[in-house]
Amino acid sequence: MPAKTTLDDDRALPVEAVTPLIRGVAVLRRLTEAGGTLSASGLERSTGLARSTVDRITSTLARMGYVRLDGRDIALAPRVMELGNAYLAALGLPALLSSHADALADELDESVSLAVADRDGIRFIHQATRRRAMSLSFRIGDLLPAERTAPGPLFATEWTEPEWRAWRERRAKDPEDRGFPAAPWQVHSSSDEDFERRAARARRDGWALDDQLIEPGLVAMAVPVKDPRAGGRIACVVSVVSHTSRHTAADLRETLLPRLRTAVTEMERTLREAPQPRPAHTPAGLATWTGASKQELGREFVESLARGLTVLTAFGEDRAELTLTDVANATGLARATARRALITYEHLGLVRQSGTRTFTLTPRVLSLGYPPLSRTTLSQIATPHLAELADRVHESASLAVLTPSAEEVQYIARAATSRVMSVNITVGTRLPAYATSLGRVLLADRPSDDLRLPPGVPGALRPLTPHTITDPTALTAVLAEARTRGYALVDEELEAGLRSVAVPVRDRTGQVVAALNVAMHAARRSVEECVRDVLPELVETAGRVEGELAVAGRFGGVAVA
Ligand code: PHB
Repeated sequence: MPAKTTLDDDRALPVEAVTPLIRGVAVLRRLTEAGGTLSASGLERSTGLARSTVDRITSTLARMGYVRLDGRDIALAPRVMELGNAYLAALGLPALLSSHADALADELDESVSLAVADRDGIRFIHQATRRRAMSLSFRIGDLLPAERTAPGPLFATEWTEPEWRAWRERRAKDPEDRGFPAAPWQVHSSSDEDFERRAARARRDGWALDDQLIEPGLVAMAVPVKDPRAGGRIACVVSVVSHTSRHTAADLRETLLPRLRTAVTEMERTLREAPQPRPAHTPAGLATWTGASKQELGREFVESLARGLTVLTAFGEDRAELTLTDVANATGLARATARRALITYEHLGLVRQSGTRTFTLTPRVLSLGYPPLSRTTLSQIATPHLAELADRVHESASLAVLTPSAEEVQYIARAATSRVMSVNITVGTRLPAYATSLGRVLLADRPSDDLRLPPGVPGALRPLTPHTITDPTALTAVLAEARTRGYALVDEELEAGLRSVAVPVRDRTGQVVAALNVAMHAARRSVEECVRDVLPELVETAGRVEGELAVAGRFGGVAVA
């Protein structure tokens, strides 16, 4: 009975479909549509599932790191982006074309996006956003109705008659575009014939416009990128997006079309010259961890859901098309189990058969949590981990970055304990880098032939306490040591009675992007205890933040705050 409400349409459920997987997918989609967070009762209402089922599904997703249970609320968590990442990696286009789109956005000083066709909608796979005030901007994974966009008419040039029919039926059934939660609400103001005419023109011209169809003031111009490897079919569409305060739709075409076309020619060359997919390293045993979680959590862990979700992560770069055997090998699932998961996903429109024996992910995989998280920041990623760390060590924990001059650190996230400390620190606080553990970890990361202190710092080595290191040579040695050891400990150099220890936080390329510390009163723990008891907790927390940052940053930059 609940299966009905969790399905997208009325087609009969295949007998082999895995019900918990259908329900788990429904929970992820409802959370996504709601902007990332819902209460358990909100989920109960929107999925039609019983409360006990919602609880078991969300505790399973929490174990996977896909959601966070936050009091009564259930919130999508960064790891869920590994599902969308699997699609984007398998697609390969973001890796090949994003830098072209970013360069075009820089050159034109306008937003540029890449979108793929998703049935009768368009779905964004990259956004180079220069959006100023006054218009909303769409996120990676957002789906818009084709007829209200610039890319839509271009994709429609490839629609078959049944696809046109499905589009007309959808329009008639959903006149307010309720099936497109990212699209600003609107009753259809243009007719079916309008779109058919736009598609005919797009075929003739090779470009298309959106003159405020999706939102008042927003104008967009689009050109398709043809894939020479796929018989010249449209791989994706590039849009330049502006606002009527800067460009009318007509002058977008007159002034920017030539440069958009040049960029598309370069993108097509990149696709033509891209290396053939190599046989990639095959992941193994993606699903083997689930048994232990089942043992531990019992009824609160729905193993068939966890196992089913790992099937999506079996796809990836150079693993765009997999056979049932490939999926079984990668996940460690029995063939019959992997097959039932694939049948379920096919039914849900998340997987399609790409050949007689191969399966591939569809853009709809991006509807599983991606858009609300695609703009997550480092401070949002770190905050729950800082709270857990502060809880475990009973001291306050903070995350900070270096200011551009490298003279100060600036706090970007913090979890304070109730213990009163004389240093009054909040997010935004700046402290001298040279005298803080956070600053030392960050300064120590500069290139080894550049362990010289940043300009401005030597002159600013003021003694803040009798212990402050103020000799540049001594400080350079301390930084070198911090680098070798992987942590910095500062003992009463910033403030009498204050001791702190910090470790670096690295992005997926290994670059240090922030520092994480625990600060405490010197009377609470000796230096030795600090290293023995607090440092391992810091290292572990940094690892968790780094893990989530790597997932969230795979196909887009993660802003600091
Ligand atoms: C966008 O990238 O935000 C965009 C692209 C095409 C449209 C509308 C918006 O038609």
